[in-house]
Amino acid sequence: MDKARSTGALRWGSLLLLFVLACAALLVVSRRAAIDPAAAPAKSSFTPELVARGARLAAIGDCAGCHSSAAPLAGGVAMHTSFGIIYSTNITPDTATGIGAWTEAAFARAMREGVARDGSHLYPAFPYEHFTRLTDADIHALYAWLMTRDAVSARAPANRLIFPLGFRPLLAGWKLLFLERTPPSVNASQDAAYQRGAYLADALGHCGACHTPRNRLGAEERRHYLEGGEADGWHATALNAASPSPQPWSEEQLAAYLRTGMAPNHAIAGGPMQLVVQNLAAAGDDDIHALAVYIHAMQSEAKPPAAASERRAQQPLASVAGSDAQWEAGRQVYAQTCARCHDAGREPGSAGALQMPLAIANYLPDARNLIHIIRDGIHPPDNTPGRWMPAFGSTLTNAQLTALAAFLRHNAADAAPWPDLADAIKKTSSP
Ligand code: HEC
Ligand code: HEC
Ligand code: HEC
Repeated sequence: MDKARSTGALRWGSLLLLFVLACAALLVVSRRAAIDPAAAPAKSSFTPELVARGARLAAIGDCAGCHSSAAPLAGGVAMHTSFGIIYSTNITPDTATGIGAWTEAAFARAMREGVARDGSHLYPAFPYEHFTRLTDADIHALYAWLMTRDAVSARAPANRLIFPLGFRPLLAGWKLLFLERTPPSVNASQDAAYQRGAYLADALGHCGACHTPRNRLGAEERRHYLEGGEADGWHATALNAASPSPQPWSEEQLAAYLRTGMAPNHAIAGGPMQLVVQNLAAAGDDDIHALAVYIHAMQSEAKPPAAASERRAQQPLASVAGSDAQWEAGRQVYAQTCARCHDAGREPGSAGALQMPLAIANYLPDARNLIHIIRDGIHPPDNTPGRWMPAFGSTLTNAQLTALAAFLRHNAADAAPWPDLADAIKKTSSP
């Protein structure tokens, strides 16, 4: 007995020793030096052209989208991850609470290596997984833009992360495994607009942060670049050859969608994509065009069921009898609540909306986007004109939602039933 206990203790002791050694090693390799604070550069030291270029780039990088809550760029936006809540920080030129004392070298290190001025590691909720591939010229323009914004004094609330992830040195290990400087592969024979689009989509626009699936440690699976991922409880559609879109996307349609959130024959940008589009409004036309060229090329191998979905769109869905009780129940909900705007014969615009066989939400691997749209409706961002759909979260029961979603999946998309529909209904229930 005694012997067994002491070998057990020995084993625990050596494990503990190994753990302590590993932690010490990690601390040694992970330590980064602080970069001395410096006086904020005079706003007049940056040319107006450079600042304007930085503003257009920041629109593509969505800096304001993630860093603005109470005041522009002053941080405090809560990011919900599977590891807990991380707050974005103040990136205005305030010296005490923002990045006013950061030299351009400190800023560049944060963008490329995810290390703050004081040497601590930053969480990849800040998409430096992508910004690491920014050019020097773009970092310079972004710095000029940030340093010429209004300084705001504000400190982000403390993060709430599961143990032991609040311990920042652990991030050094994560970076060793996942931070990658080489860009995703591109087609070298394509033209300059494509190359620019590939760079913008990856390095600055970080489209993959939502549109690429992630592994269990929260890193993007680069082998599945843009093959569909997650964003705030929404499915972020595949943008490459795996696109499930019922209609092909032309370059012009993609440019219109990225510019306005709307394109003929395609669904409106919803959920997190609506915010992306809102921020892209300040991007340059040439860069929007480049993104469209690149995404269009990524999809050239996609095979949308265009003709079949168009044929279904021309028939009134509401009159297609369901073949069992649940579909029939779903058909009735559709006929009473949705058909007046979405059925065949109505066109998007003042009097109607897209036919359901053309709506990508019915074709996705799960039902969450469709249920989000039905529950919450569609509202144009504050103070902007746009298409509007009422919310049905408080008028439809879960049973009606389930029947409606099953009906649309079958009759609008002509696809196999969603296996986890009940789960999607649960996960999307309004707060
Ligand atoms: C998807 C959300 C997101 C986007 C987009 C984003 N950031 Fe951030 N950023 C964060 C979060 C979250 C942090 C805090 C990370 C931490 O505390 O470890 C952060 C931290 C930073 C920091 C470090 C600040 C400090 O005090 O340590 C800088 C600099 C920064 N971001 C600049 C930018 C710029 C410039 C852009 C646009 C090109 C941008 N960010 C876009 C989420 C984002
Ligand atoms: C008062 C009119 C109206 C009603 C009723 C309505 N919608 Fe919509 N819906 C819209 C508008 C407007 C849009 C925005 C895009 C557009 O014009 O197609 C939209 C968008 C959508 C989208 C995204 C695809 C797209 O068209 O952009 C889906 C999916 C959708 N609605 C499903 C439904 C379902 C299911 C119902 C019934 C529960 C419903 N809608 C009821 C007006 C309506
Ligand atoms: C914050 C997360 C997020 C980021 C970043 C993001 N997207 Fe999206 N995107 C989404 C989601 C979610 C959808 C699905 C929206 C819907 O169904 O209404 C979407 C939809 C789209 C669609 C429509 C796809 C289709 O076939 O209907 C396109 C095109 C698109 N995104 C392009 C981009 C590009 C290009 C970028 C980078 C510049 C980007 N997205 C960045 C979340 C994001």
